[in-house]
Amino acid sequence: MPERTPSGNLIGVLISGRGSNLVAILDRIDAGDLDARVALVISNEPSAAGLAAARARGVPTLALDHRKCATREDHDREMARALEAAGARLVCLAGYMRLLSGWFVDRFKGRILNIHPSLLPSFPGTCAQRQALESGVRISGCTVHFVDENVDSGPIVLQEAVPVLDGDTPESLEKRILEAEHRVYSRAIALYFSGSLRITGRRVLGATPAG
Ligand code: GRF
Repeated sequence: MPERTPSGNLIGVLISGRGSNLVAILDRIDAGDLDARVALVISNEPSAAGLAAARARGVPTLALDHRKCATREDHDREMARALEAAGARLVCLAGYMRLLSGWFVDRFKGRILNIHPSLLPSFPGTCAQRQALESGVRISGCTVHFVDENVDSGPIVLQEAVPVLDGDTPESLEKRILEAEHRVYSRAIALYFSGSLRITGRRVLGATPAG
């Protein structure tokens, strides 16, 4: 079988931990379902399991411990240098547990995606699954959105709904939402590289067939 030409759709992925969304993206690329390549994975936590998972698949990685940088912007400037050197056209946050500086958001304006385990704008921030359970909603889910200067804010690209069941715990809900996350993130990345997305105010057009 002829080798596939390496994709020019280069992604930089930022993580802090487990990296299951990163692995799901790599799986979709390897399966030929997503025309992209992960050019670099950066973690602010040197012990992140996702770094080891990326290395095991031959993906370049960089551990950039934020505690060793004087300011948030210093850390972000180092990340930006590495991402740009790797040729990343899109930055995907996948469980990256730090706020980005305004400088970084501006540098990659309109080129940063994040995934969040709720139907935003409900339940931003940490423990989104617990927040959903405590609020009594019957439906939660996940959201892929462009990143702006605020937390879990920014124009929404795709969402997938997940039912909240009577017996759910934060853990069981997290597991079910995570399965949806693994589907939806790659679809959003494919849409981004297709060039069909247009940000108009808070709305992203071009993500649905009618767009
Ligand atoms: C996911 O639930 C994601 O939505 C949130 O952080 C978690 C990261 O999980 N932002 P993983 O590291 O991708 O497994």
